[in-house]
Amino acid sequence: MCGIVGYLGNKKAAPLLVEGLSKLEYRGYDSAGVAILEDGMINVSKCKGRLKNLEERLNEKSYKGSIGIGHTRWATHGEPSDVNSHPHTNSDVTISVVHNGIIENYLKLREWLTGKGYEFLSETDTEVIPNLVDYYYKGDLLEAVMKATSKMEGSYAIGVICKNEPNKLVAVRKDSPLIVGLGEDEYFIASDIPAVLNHTRDVYLLEDKEFVVIDEKGVTLYNEEKEEITKEVYKVTWNADAAEKEGYEDFMLKEIHQQPKAIKDTMTSRINLDSKIALDKINFTKEDLNNIDRIYIVACGTAYHAGVVGKTAIERLAKIPVEVDIASEFRYREPLITEKTLIIVVSQSGETADTLAVLRDGKNKGARVLAVTNVVGSSVSREATDVLYTWAGPEIAVASTKAYVTQLIAMYIIALYFAEVKGTLSNEEILEIKKEMLELPEKVEETLKHKETLQKFASKTYMEKDMFFLGRGLDYAVAMEGSLKLKEISYIHSEAYAGGELKHGPIALIEKGTEVVALLTDENLRDKMVSNIKEVVTRGAKVMGIALEGDTESEKSLDSVIYIPKTLTILTPVISVIPLQLLSYYMAKQKGCDVDKPRNLAKSVTVE
Ligand code: AGP
Ligand code: GLU
Repeated sequence: MCGIVGYLGNKKAAPLLVEGLSKLEYRGYDSAGVAILEDGMINVSKCKGRLKNLEERLNEKSYKGSIGIGHTRWATHGEPSDVNSHPHTNSDVTISVVHNGIIENYLKLREWLTGKGYEFLSETDTEVIPNLVDYYYKGDLLEAVMKATSKMEGSYAIGVICKNEPNKLVAVRKDSPLIVGLGEDEYFIASDIPAVLNHTRDVYLLEDKEFVVIDEKGVTLYNEEKEEITKEVYKVTWNADAAEKEGYEDFMLKEIHQQPKAIKDTMTSRINLDSKIALDKINFTKEDLNNIDRIYIVACGTAYHAGVVGKTAIERLAKIPVEVDIASEFRYREPLITEKTLIIVVSQSGETADTLAVLRDGKNKGARVLAVTNVVGSSVSREATDVLYTWAGPEIAVASTKAYVTQLIAMYIIALYFAEVKGTLSNEEILEIKKEMLELPEKVEETLKHKETLQKFASKTYMEKDMFFLGRGLDYAVAMEGSLKLKEISYIHSEAYAGGELKHGPIALIEKGTEVVALLTDENLRDKMVSNIKEVVTRGAKVMGIALEGDTESEKSLDSVIYIPKTLTILTPVISVIPLQLLSYYMAKQKGCDVDKPRNLAKSVTVE
């Protein structure tokens, strides 16, 4: 997600805020802004685009104020634009706020505040915050922020300034990161340590619902009961580059570890046990779905692999036939597209040329196009009929990891929504799937603990020239993703094969010492998979298995095994892909490859 900064001290705030935001650019953003308190006024400068656009605006203003807040936005609600940029203020511009996160109940709060006479200028969820603080403000900014945040659901890290208390900055976090920088008579708030490293290495690492008040006395921390709390000062030993990766060696490893939160965020306000599936503003009636005679899921690379899982999810849950295809093939094979066609395009960047071409061609032929993308305001998001965003946050590494698992979540949300609308699943069945989905973040967290085992396995296999990934059913879809991960970051040739397909030719490639990764997480296909494993073992292959916890039977046929937590078969890809991501990462690292920027590859393939 984006970055927030704040400053209160004895220097001009504006340049320090921009410097702090520039240290957070790596987090990805689409717009930026600052609010400076000066001579009793809150002055806001903000705009879409890069930081330099903001700097140009600030150069014309030369604010002198020594207190302010700043923001680089990664849009989730409301596309990138000047008016949707942060900071946001209340109508009287007496309060200004910057926010990182998603306010899940913002529509309800916006309606309630509108009823109280508040006006809104932007489409963002964030804009409810300054108005809520205004509503509760009775002369004590901390009190007002405490009351406002007690009404907010979702994730937030916020910085707040108020015209009536010109020497105060209040901040608090819940589920989004926030730190306090402790300088010499100057204090900072920031989403991340790099933003303050030029000025201090002494920081407070805030926990959820710890409130910060910065004023002439310095920094005071409070709990939710408004009792002062003390906190240990964390001394940063990292350099700036390491800090950007939050201590991880590479963005890819950081993003692999961000997956539990990315999954949780993507389910936010969509998967709730006590309400129907919400697809944001997307609406399909039962009649709409009955009028659809064909669904295509079309994408490229990793997004295509998510689509392969999506096919099974929609067919199994919503009983609608689905074809899945890679965009570069689909667009040239004269596919049958009519007004009764639904095309689901999946694209992390939302800018992939072939996928975009499929979207445009499909719309020209009258199809409804539902886009699943990670970037608000991307071409795909602007041109599709409907958009379901993954909320993975910016994915910096070229090799897609957290975007992939959130694309899987999006596929399940769509399949469940269709099943609910069509009535193809009972309430009990839907509830069971939702419950299992809500447990996925924790199960992924648990699976990440296998990293040492995978690192050890990688240290023995990284010199291999070939590697096979085998699976049946959804395990085959995940095998495809695991094979692509290995190829694109370690440059080791690998193939994914359906277990049952081996004997139709590829098994001729198996010889003594061939490395094979076999997924056997589908209990209905496990015995068949064990037979396939035995076929390759008898021909000299060494096999690492990805199996369900408790499946000790399979262990007998394997040289090594990674056990993953059980869930519903349809949801297992979210977990079974984790060991494959880690294995590829560690093999590539052993080979000394640049895992974040692999040779020949771009993060977004905007050319055919
Ligand atoms: C995945 O690790 C690759 N970087 C690549 O296959 C990628 O998934 C593909 O280019 C599609 O990109 P998109 O999701 O941005 O459309
Ligand atoms: N949800 C807010 C918005 O869309 C904040 C997004 C962010 O964290 O940058 O403006």
